[in-house]
Amino acid sequence: MSNPHILAPSILSADFTRLGEEIAACEAAGADWLHIDVMDGHFVPNITMGPFIVEACKRVTKLPLDVHLMIEKPEGLLEAFAKAGANHLTVHVETCPHLHRTLEFIKSLGCTAGVTLNPGTPIGAIKSVLHLADLVLVMSVDPGFSGGKFVPESFARVAEVRKRLDALVRKRLDALGSSAWLEVDGGVNAETLQKLKAAGANAFVAATAVFKHPQGIATGIKILREID
Ligand code: DX5
Ligand code: ZN
Repeated sequence: MSNPHILAPSILSADFTRLGEEIAACEAAGADWLHIDVMDGHFVPNITMGPFIVEACKRVTKLPLDVHLMIEKPEGLLEAFAKAGANHLTVHVETCPHLHRTLEFIKSLGCTAGVTLNPGTPIGAIKSVLHLADLVLVMSVDPGFSGGKFVPESFARVAEVRKRLDALVRKRLDALGSSAWLEVDGGVNAETLQKLKAAGANAFVAATAVFKHPQGIATGIKILREID
């Protein structure tokens, strides 16, 4: 593949009675990161996993843990998630009134600092922290569940973030190796991945397309992996 991308299966659609086996299947099939969706029942209408699950995942995989915090007031829990083994910590702009401080704090914990925004939030909301972010996650569904409805405006939103990141790199005159990951989460399948990649994304989260693939996890990953 001339232009490889990162694939991050989201365990939200895994069979939790066999979580270790399903994570091992992702790793064996060539997943790059493991995406863990943390939800609090307030910011999003669902409750999922906390630091205990992150710590359990850490014990069964070498894959970097890409932790997506869909929780109000995430600041107070960042340290616990870092200690549990998170490698990437991504916070929502809608939940963080002090984003500069929050992203700097994530970095001080030794983690990749990610920022994300819901499909209804204008891209301009993250403009002033783009230079601090190691990862920008464009949500392409309203978060809360896997299997959500893909928001088609996401293609244009990814292109806009790509443009802004590229302009930022040029301004800093460090064109090589300094751009943030541009990740997309929600409704990623073979068709949307190809278009999102063409729009400039280079990392993709997928729950349904991996864990619910009729031919199994390995096939789900292979299909998403081979798209160029
Ligand atoms: C949505 C979560 C996603 C979700 C993606 O709230 O942040 O990571 O698991 O699920 P799919 O790939 O099924 O849209
Ligand atoms: Zn997610």
